[in-house]
Amino acid sequence: MSETTQTKQTSSDALAQHATPYGTIPPASPLPSRKPVSLPRLQEMQNRGEKIAMLTAYDATFAAVADAAGVECILVGDSLGMVCQGRVSTVGVSLETMRYHTECVARGLHRAQATSWLIADMPFASYQESREQAIRNASVLMQAGAHMVKLEGGGWTTDTVRFLVERGIPVCAHLGLTPQTVHALGGYRVQGKGDVAAQQLRQHALALQDAGATMVVLEMVPHVIASQLTSELPRCATIGIGAGNGTAGQVLVMHDLLGVNLGKMARFVRNFMQDQNSVRDAIAAYVAAVKDGSFPNNALHAW
Ligand code: KIV
Repeated sequence: MSETTQTKQTSSDALAQHATPYGTIPPASPLPSRKPVSLPRLQEMQNRGEKIAMLTAYDATFAAVADAAGVECILVGDSLGMVCQGRVSTVGVSLETMRYHTECVARGLHRAQATSWLIADMPFASYQESREQAIRNASVLMQAGAHMVKLEGGGWTTDTVRFLVERGIPVCAHLGLTPQTVHALGGYRVQGKGDVAAQQLRQHALALQDAGATMVVLEMVPHVIASQLTSELPRCATIGIGAGNGTAGQVLVMHDLLGVNLGKMARFVRNFMQDQNSVRDAIAAYVAAVKDGSFPNNALHAW
């Protein structure tokens, strides 16, 4: 066999090891110069005012594409209950479902040598009972490949957050519209409106920062309140969805960003696929718009 034929064969063998007939996840990072996103790196971004771009993903390929497009954080959200499972709320999502999707996403990121920070949602009824229940179930998601867990709720979650953080599990809190309690809240509506509600939100956010939460999603909160909170939480990055452009970062549900939606889109959504020809370009446009502050536009996407 000639040397050229041998070289060709070796490289096609190497390709065969990684290639699959369905979809292609590269065997090497598409962003080779980016260091793995870590808690210290996210804190540095927050300190220097660089916006953090977060996006949901529920499977290996979309997670790898989101990473390649430059998002820093990938959230395996329990919104998968709606967009993947066809539910009307996130209440019915199980821990096993979250474990399965977290593992799929983690595998996709690993195969792509991706550098994103991976967050998994703790589903309804997986942490409310006790701190022991919370650590047992958070461990399932961490062992599936998550770097951080997210849990919804205000002051009552503080003890749980502290318990997890002290035991080495990074926590992202979630305040404002908390979809798992949609029935108690009376629907998907803006939270923290008016002085009393805003003050309560502030107290919960400060308590969660004190307990060690290093991120907090603020969902459907008036943009003025979200901006104020952002400046009061130097150790806890605020990630907004329907909370205006004054937060430390933004998050969207992948399907919404891509316009994969037959109904009326929520006010806080922008379809980034509209001016792009590929999913990767649409996500990259989202990342760019988050970074330069043009998304969200407070007049269009916030309250
Ligand atoms: O479940 C989810 O995707 C979320 C985001 C909307 C923040 O919690």
